[in-house]
Amino acid sequence: MASSLPLDEFPNLSLDPARLPRHIAIVMDGNGRWAQRRGLARCEGHRRGKDSVRAVVEAARALGIPFLTLYAFSSENWQRPGTEVRFLMQLLHRYLVTEAKRLMKRGIRVIALGDLARLPATVRRALQQTVELTAANKSMTTALALSYGGRQDIVEATRRIATAVAAGQLDPAAIDEATVARELSTAAMPDPDLLIRTSGEIRLSNFFLYQLAYTELYFTETLWPDFRERDLLGAIAAYQARERRFGAVDGAPSDRLRAAN
Ligand code: FPP
Repeated sequence: MASSLPLDEFPNLSLDPARLPRHIAIVMDGNGRWAQRRGLARCEGHRRGKDSVRAVVEAARALGIPFLTLYAFSSENWQRPGTEVRFLMQLLHRYLVTEAKRLMKRGIRVIALGDLARLPATVRRALQQTVELTAANKSMTTALALSYGGRQDIVEATRRIATAVAAGQLDPAAIDEATVARELSTAAMPDPDLLIRTSGEIRLSNFFLYQLAYTELYFTETLWPDFRERDLLGAIAAYQARERRFGAVDGAPSDRLRAAN
């Protein structure tokens, strides 16, 4: 395996390097509860969650996972108390500024998805700098979903398609799944093979609603601030134990789905 992860430390997890997910998407949940259980302010959970982000990004990179998406802030998260939103924005800013060197050293490209115009200018600038700085990196792409909503993604894609139709550039009869996929914010990535959600919540919370059609879903009770390398490996092992049928009967996805993925 092309990995610098000390897999020997996890002898009960044998992963097949030929069947690693190409794209893992994570709903990082449970920061608040992690803090509350310790009598700490919710923000302490977010602070500790940032350490999990680093650990998981580096573990995924070490394993050779090509794409990792982290749902860091949803369209709905703006409704949280102002102090928490401000704290999360500061944390994100600090992450972008302090991680740049490590991301470059490991050849990790960062991209961002979502309604970035809503982010504070300082965060937008730091994000733009990191995206530009890491643009040529090739070892892994980490997508940060920020102010992201799955429905909004579909609405935006629909608007662009409708605009092309209205301008006479697109025949409605020619619209197919590939047309829609090209207009989503994830156009440059394959659909996720594996979705992980931490903290025991079993829902999608408006994340990647179109892209998750055939994704394997993995829910764990572990709270995000406790989720580290071992937990990522455990999720991948569970993924590899599944039989993916893509709606077919023999385990072989149809040519159309294989092409789409
Ligand atoms: C959900 O936990 C988590 C968030 C809304 C924020 C995620 C942010 C981080 C992991 C830290 C910084 C991120 C980056 C990319 C540096 P919650 O607060 O909803 O937890 P709860 O359900 O227990 O209240």
